[in-house]
Amino acid sequence: MDVKQLDEFAKKIIIEAGQNIRAAFSYDIEIETKSSPNDLVTNIDRETELFFIEKIKAFNPDHRILGEEGMGEKVENLEGVVWIIDPIDGTMNFVKQHRHFMITIGIYVDGVGVLGYIFDVMREDLFNAISGVGAWYNDSPLRKLQPVKIEQAVIGINASWVTPNNRINHEKITELVRTVRGTRSYGSAAMEIAFVVSGKLDAYISMRLAPWDIGGGVIIAKEVGAIATNFNGKNFDFLSMDTFLIANPSIHQLILDKYIEEKK
Ligand code: IPD
Ligand code: CA
Ligand code: CA
Repeated sequence: MDVKQLDEFAKKIIIEAGQNIRAAFSYDIEIETKSSPNDLVTNIDRETELFFIEKIKAFNPDHRILGEEGMGEKVENLEGVVWIIDPIDGTMNFVKQHRHFMITIGIYVDGVGVLGYIFDVMREDLFNAISGVGAWYNDSPLRKLQPVKIEQAVIGINASWVTPNNRINHEKITELVRTVRGTRSYGSAAMEIAFVVSGKLDAYISMRLAPWDIGGGVIIAKEVGAIATNFNGKNFDFLSMDTFLIANPSIHQLILDKYIEEKK
C-alpha cells in the first residue's frame, strides 16, 4: 500500500468535504434527534458521510468504511483497510454555534492505525499523523509532549461528572477539578483530542465515546507521546462504546489511579 498516496487522497477529500459543509450554512440544515433529545444529527452529517463513501469506493472499492451515520456497509471487524469516520464531530456545536466541529478520520490496516486526521472545518486547521513518521498541525511538525505537573494541567472534562451520577465517583472528579489549573469543555471529542496532542490541553476525559470519535485522534496521539486508553488503562475497544482518557504521559497514570473510580 502506498501510504503517501493514501494520505494525499485523504487530505484532499477532507478539505473538499469541509468546503461543502461551510457552503451548507447558506441553505437549510435539517435537524433530527437520534438516541435522545440531545443527540443531534443533520442532513449535512449524512451527506458528508456519503460524500466520503463515494470518494473512497471510487479510489479503492476494497476499502471499507465505519462511519457514525452507518451509511456504509456493516463493519464487524477491522480486517483489511478500514476508514473510521465521524463526518461531523460536535454536531451540537455545528447546529448552534456554527463553529468548533471537526471532521475526523482514522485509516486502519488490519486493525493497526496508519493515518489519522482531525480537521477543524471553520478554522481550516488540520491535525494529522502518519504512524511511525510523525504528526503535523497545518503541515508544521507537532513536538513530543513535555512533562506537566498535575497542578499546572488544564484538562477537558464535561461539568456533569462533578455532580452525583451513576457512572463515576464524582467526589474524586471534584478533587481533580480542584487540583488542576483549569478545566475546559468544548463539545467535540475530536477537538479536545487535537488540543491534547498539540499541548493546548493536558488531558481529556470522557465516560462514553464511540470508535469514530477517537479513531483519528489516537493515531496522532501516539506520534506525540500522548497516552490514550480506556479507564482500565487498556486500549480503547474499537468495535463498541468505551470510556476514554487521553493525557500527557506524565499525568495519565496519576489521573487513572487517583481520580477515576468507576461505579460498577
Ligand atoms: C459527540 C461529541 C461530544 C461527546 C459525545 C460525542 P457527535 O459527537 O464528540 O463532545 O461528548 O460523546 O457523541 O455526536 O457530535 O458526533
Ligand atoms: Ca462524534
Ligand atoms: Ca458525528
